[in-house]
Amino acid sequence: MPDTPSRSHGRKSITASLAPRSLIDGNPRLAGVWRAQVITLLPQAFPGVLGESLTGRALKDGLWQLDAIDLRPFGEGKHRNVDDTPAGGGAGMVLRADVMGRAIDHALKLAPAGAPLIYLSPRGTPFTQAMAQKLADGPGVSLICGRFEGLDQRVIDHYGITEVSLGDFVLTGGEIAAQALLDATIRLRPGILGNEASTEEESFSAGLLEHPQYTRPAEWQGHAIPEVLLSGDHGKIGQWRRAQSEALTRARRPDLWQAHLAAKHGTDE
Ligand SMILES: C[S@@+](CC[C@H](N)C(=O)[O-])C[C@H]1O[C@@H](n2cnc3c(N)ncnc32)[C@H](O)[C@@H]1O
Repeated sequence: MPDTPSRSHGRKSITASLAPRSLIDGNPRLAGVWRAQVITLLPQAFPGVLGESLTGRALKDGLWQLDAIDLRPFGEGKHRNVDDTPAGGGAGMVLRADVMGRAIDHALKLAPAGAPLIYLSPRGTPFTQAMAQKLADGPGVSLICGRFEGLDQRVIDHYGITEVSLGDFVLTGGEIAAQALLDATIRLRPGILGNEASTEEESFSAGLLEHPQYTRPAEWQGHAIPEVLLSGDHGKIGQWRRAQSEALTRARRPDLWQAHLAAKHGTDE
């Protein structure tokens, strides 16, 4: 077992800067704090963008914790190999089940009870706002970032790992997907955003895309802000925004629109 396979990011290890290397090691588990564990070949890529702005501030303040668990020390032999050629032939390399298994066992020891184990994978269930909300309501999450051709299927089956996709495209590795999933989730935790009401009005929260937004100047390049938004009539503004949300969703996302109509009719009955 490697000596220091993980870097912990969070309140106790913070210095004035949130640079990844200043956030390494020795971070005690804060009881009851939402915790993310990320198994990755690129631990230095964390916290990455999560160390910035609101999520970074919350990490620093101990509102959530992050362990980036380096897969490499769990590797085989002198060179700590983590991958091998695909059984049956073909291009690329596959992350070994025994190596990933050791890293997962390590991660599960640190994980809060009940935190799901997720493999970021283009074959997975598409990630949604509802999934982010469910994760945010739980104790944390353990994430596996794939590389190369991905992960040996046996490790996925053995641990009953949930596969989650960021969308119908292929990334080089799971790290960007993990950071996107964590960002979407952490911002839904209490106390992370300044104005908590803002998440309720966002795209997807009510099953619709958000209405267009405007700010000063009132006129720009000959384009004015819609008059209703300057009327001060909050009833009318609400109606206008709702109509815009519905029109945008109908035009751009017929799948969401149909689901919205079905949910609405279900409630009407
Ligand atoms: C090059 S990809 C492997 C793609 C795999 N051979 C396939 O065709 O499904 C390497 C890793 O990037 C991550 N990845 C790539 N695309 C992703 C997506 N759309 N959503 C989530 N993770 C993704 C996964 O962790 C994956 O194991």
